[in-house]
Amino acid sequence: MLDGCGRTIDYLRLSVTDLCNYRCRYCMPAEGVCKRPHADILSVEELVEIGRAAVACGVKKIRLTGGEPLVRRGILDICRGLRAISGLEELCLTTNGSLLPSMAAPLREAGVDRLNISLDTLRPDRFREITRIGALSDVLEGIQAAERAGFQDLKLDTVLIGGFNDDEIGDFLALTMKHPWEVRFIELMPMGPCADWEKSCFLSVDTILQRYSALQQIDPQGVARRYRLPGAKGTVGLISPMSHDFCADCRRIRVTADGKLKGCLHSREELPLRGFHGKDLEDAIRRGILQKPRRHHLSEGASDTPRTMNQIGG
Ligand code: 5AD
Ligand code: SF4
Repeated sequence: MLDGCGRTIDYLRLSVTDLCNYRCRYCMPAEGVCKRPHADILSVEELVEIGRAAVACGVKKIRLTGGEPLVRRGILDICRGLRAISGLEELCLTTNGSLLPSMAAPLREAGVDRLNISLDTLRPDRFREITRIGALSDVLEGIQAAERAGFQDLKLDTVLIGGFNDDEIGDFLALTMKHPWEVRFIELMPMGPCADWEKSCFLSVDTILQRYSALQQIDPQGVARRYRLPGAKGTVGLISPMSHDFCADCRRIRVTADGKLKGCLHSREELPLRGFHGKDLEDAIRRGILQKPRRHHLSEGASDTPRTMNQIGG
């Protein structure tokens, strides 16, 4: 359906937990987040019910997010339940990849069509530093497991951080020569723990185009501008929430793990969906879509949302 600004909304990002087994420095506090009472978080049945109502409102693609969706108990039941909704064209999942060695094949069997894997560095020491507790080898094994399980067109998401990984851009680009993956660079957004980081950490992804003039532009996809190196098997995506405002092309709504509909990642407004069923639930989702803000205000300062990223779902 169309929102209040005439944008088609057909993409739901559904968070299944705000817990994560990593503590990335820009996303989470060092001590993690308090585990909330089980009852605060949407049940498997509620998640599937919300998915069904969203599809009735015109949603064609659902992406499961977190925190880390693979730490959620019942994730495979959630996937199976959503996959069974007629009219849903794509079921995707964004993961930090650490649990894919054992989960990739079951996720494929449960009907997940595509995976995005977050990977901010290719160096083991830096990986440990940014995630505070993670091991790069787990994610690299996870990527292999995903390919073995039949996930084609993997997307690797890299948050570009000045002074941390901008000297690895060439290494990431080199991956696309050998692999049919899309390596995507995302601009760091000032929210939660990184809201007060130094200016030099926030780099425009346009620096990549300036440094690598061989990149040839190809068709955009969603909010990503896309490029390819000559002869490469894979592609490069640039996602620039900071330097280029793509709000006019935004097709998404979000539901947090505690059941609040958010029209925009960065807005304060939240619409509770819990307790609504059937037509009432659909009406609540339609109200949320109509109230989706026209744009975010990141260029004027930090995000307006009091939530951190793990509490919304990237
Ligand atoms: N800016 C940009 N991306 C972020 N993510 C988490 N926090 C931020 C931020 N402040 C990304 C993660 C991952 C996804 C879950 O969201 O790196 O790709
Ligand atoms: Fe976990 Fe992703 Fe946040 Fe890292 S960025 S702590 S992997 S939710």
